[in-house]
Amino acid sequence: MSNDREPTDDSAHELRVSKIRDGTVIDHVRGGQALNVLAILDIDGTRGEEVSVGMNVPSDRFARKDIVKVEGRELSQDEVDVLSLIAPDATINIVREYEVVGKHRVERPETVDGVLSCPNPGCITTGDEPVTSRFEVLEDGVRCVYCGTIVRENIASLIET
Ligand code: CTP
Ligand code: ZN
Repeated sequence: MSNDREPTDDSAHELRVSKIRDGTVIDHVRGGQALNVLAILDIDGTRGEEVSVGMNVPSDRFARKDIVKVEGRELSQDEVDVLSLIAPDATINIVREYEVVGKHRVERPETVDGVLSCPNPGCITTGDEPVTSRFEVLEDGVRCVYCGTIVRENIASLIET
């Protein structure tokens, strides 16, 4: 088990962010993206969510990584799809009774539907008649398929509430 390993950068970090019992660990998040992960998951702490966050902790895969541990919650595919846009190398670990029972890498979908709202006020998706938003996922951002608006920064701020 990982507890028996020689001390490494990773085990030092484990002392900083304790293990969870049941829930989801989003690991290998690009350094600096943890708060955006929380925004995507709509976690702001006001509803009593039990969450641990490590920012810019040492990692063997990247120089630095962020990690988010959410107790008592599993993620929807929509949430994982949006996470992939800001944390393309993230690992989603499902934890039950302290054990990792599922581990998978996020995959970038070709499109995200009904999850992000277009920042263009003239876009058909933001008018009175509801049209479900659809963004094409680019290498470095997302593009509204209706009006062509490209967003590269702050994708988390487009999440529909
Ligand atoms: N973890 C946790 N609580 C648990 C079990 C695991 O917070 N009860 C965390 C670990 O601290 C680690 C992540 O979930 O950050 C993945 O756990 P594990 O698969 O045991 O670690 P590694 O083998 O190092 O994962 P990887 O190979 O994906 O880097
Ligand atoms: Zn648009």
